Amino acid sequence: RKKIAILTSGGDSQGMSACVRAVVRTAIHYGCDAFAVYEGYEGLVRGGSEYIRKMAWEDVRGWLSEGGTKIGTARCAAFREREGRLTAAMNLVTEGIDALVVCGGDGSLTGADRFRQEWPSLMEELLKTRRITSEQLKGHEHLTIVGTVGSIDNDMALTDSTIGAYSSLDRIIEMVDYIDSTAMSHSRAFVVEVMGRHCGWLALLAGIATEADYAFLPERAKSPLVWEKELLEICEHHRKQGKRKTVVIVAEGAIDNELKPITPEIVKDLLVEKLGLDTRITTLGHVQRGGTAVAFDRILATMQGVDAVRCILESTPATPSYIIGVKENNVCRFPLMESVQITQSVAEAIKNHDFDLAMSLRDSEFSD
Ligand code: F6P
Repeated sequence: RKKIAILTSGGDSQGMSACVRAVVRTAIHYGCDAFAVYEGYEGLVRGGSEYIRKMAWEDVRGWLSEGGTKIGTARCAAFREREGRLTAAMNLVTEGIDALVVCGGDGSLTGADRFRQEWPSLMEELLKTRRITSEQLKGHEHLTIVGTVGSIDNDMALTDSTIGAYSSLDRIIEMVDYIDSTAMSHSRAFVVEVMGRHCGWLALLAGIATEADYAFLPERAKSPLVWEKELLEICEHHRKQGKRKTVVIVAEGAIDNELKPITPEIVKDLLVEKLGLDTRITTLGHVQRGGTAVAFDRILATMQGVDAVRCILESTPATPSYIIGVKENNVCRFPLMESVQITQSVAEAIKNHDFDLAMSLRDSEFSD
């Protein structure tokens, strides 16, 4: 009887609980034992029944509409060290778990793939130091790992959408709609900072969906001379047309062409000094990760959770780790390492100011 565990890791996102529910129920549906590892990799390192819990069908009842992750998440320093991964491996073997679904962003999934690659040497060391017996090792010579991408940033290469991105976008536009009425009443400007780390997906789509005057994205870094002129001309033009509000969206990772951060304060000062606009800053912060998942994320999380279990059941020791993603509305499997590597190259290309490369990498197709 196969034992499949799921954990959620890194920053939470709306729809992670729905993904846990789908994995647990699909595993049970296929006759497997389902486990949830609480508190992400931290729980895997700590081990024991407090952190690694067997899940029944009814344990995840109602989780489809829950926000965040019901099994907790953490950014775990111990798992970054080999000793931590060794303990985590021992805890998995002790529980008899042979497959792991990790729901998280690129950092969490990189950790997952590293864990899988190291698995044989971890087993060897555990055996040598007598922390496990050869009896316990039987059937655990390989660890199957499958990733489902949960992140509000939508920054993972190959997949069109990550679990939580559309819910977060929804949260942002709802907040900007609230800001609109007060901005309009006072004829004010608002500079709204949104999350996304090094990725401008949330800022771009929020800009379109709220008819913002201007949006700053990490992927479109311009020299101060250029963006200042553009921003002022556009905002002034809209004001002359009778618009009583000005909304500028700033991605938290926005930078200029010399990689200097473009902060909401810089933008505000310019609007005040050059256009005389009464300007306020709103940093949306963690409301963007809060609340329940929109329909799209519930469906995405469910489809990915179902396929993650199927992928585990179909995998052999020779198959690489996959992430379950979505391409043109179809659930797809992509090699985990390829996706992580492209995602990291995109961040690198942005840092090196090579925006065309970043864009083409982001659009790249899986090479198989
Ligand atoms: O990766 C998700 C994210 O929400 C980013 O958009 C943001 O930069 C970061 O996590 C915030 O992290 P924390 O919750 O640890 O402050």
